[in-house]
Amino acid sequence: MKTKLSLLGGLTVNEFLRDYWQKKPLLIRQAFPQFIGLIDPQQLIALACTEDVQARLVTQRRGKFELLQAPFEPEDLDNLGKDKWTVLVQGVNHYLPEAAALLKHFAFIPHARLDDLMVSYAPKGGGVGPHFDSYDVFLLQGSGHRRWQISAQADRSLIEGAPLRILRDFRVEQEWVLEAGDMLYLPPHYAHNGIAEDDCMSYSIGFRTPAYQELAEQFLVYLQDRIEVDGMYADPDLKTQKHPSEISAAMLHQAEQAIKQVRWDKEDIANFLGCYLSEPKPHIFFDAPEWPLSLAKFRQALQKQGVKLDLKSQMLCHAGWIFMNGEAHQAREGDYLLLRSLADRRESPALKDCSAELIELLYQWYLDGYISPV
Ligand code: SIN
Ligand code: CO
Repeated sequence: MKTKLSLLGGLTVNEFLRDYWQKKPLLIRQAFPQFIGLIDPQQLIALACTEDVQARLVTQRRGKFELLQAPFEPEDLDNLGKDKWTVLVQGVNHYLPEAAALLKHFAFIPHARLDDLMVSYAPKGGGVGPHFDSYDVFLLQGSGHRRWQISAQADRSLIEGAPLRILRDFRVEQEWVLEAGDMLYLPPHYAHNGIAEDDCMSYSIGFRTPAYQELAEQFLVYLQDRIEVDGMYADPDLKTQKHPSEISAAMLHQAEQAIKQVRWDKEDIANFLGCYLSEPKPHIFFDAPEWPLSLAKFRQALQKQGVKLDLKSQMLCHAGWIFMNGEAHQAREGDYLLLRSLADRRESPALKDCSAELIELLYQWYLDGYISPV
């Protein structure tokens, strides 16, 4: 945390967190020297056309933006013309090991905050228009050049009826042209507009900031499967009432007392957070191994080589609990330390002394396609 990082323009992580993170933009020239990108435009377009991949195509016609969401028909990406369009692919780290490796450079931010790596390709003039995101984002330039315009403006009103979220009145305050290896950090809600200067690929490393409303709603969903409320409605002392349609004060009181039995503690919140934040997005599917190893062979592989997470797996932990792709598991001390290290680094060295219980859990994850031997 005390090392100056070229990735952060010579700041230490602590300085970056103190002065910029969630506070103000930071332009870092040559954050990744020699970075030319991880994927070329044809490969990105092929990925955009792959089943279950989340992708968007944004075109501009006579100054108006148009949006097409994947799945695409083959002809959607033909005849796009020389300029003013862009294709954007979410979750590239789920498909490309090099992309997952790139994200490891950002492990100074907790995994629980990471969303994904989005990659865009645009010929000259392409972009998604001026907007803001509810994410922290590092915008890393791959091949080509992109002009980034930014503004701290408070006016976030959007053009009504537009297919994309475009700011109605974007007032540029600062702008730069980024080239391969340059990076721009933007806090959530900072207005920005990226315009391709030439054939341009941009890598967005996004960090989610869930809205409290979403957290609270999802917590209630989580709680509904776990609450235990004793008793049932009873009124042996029922009194006559003038208006039979009226809900009586006695009935209200009884229901209130019953509902007050719904309680939760910090452990429920931790478990909810772990499950919610590690839950794969709905379009994510895991591939079970086609010819699975037997438990004995898997154990051997574990002891010789170790295991790695599938690129799509999300693993978090908290106080003895491990969260793997939306599922919570309690682990004992030694096992917890091994699993936490697997979650931190997304792979483990050879695991010589693990408990039978841990081997069973890892084997189940292997059969589910969540992990595989290294
Ligand atoms: C892009 O890569 O074109 C868009 C990235 C962004 O503005 O969030
Ligand atoms: Co954006």
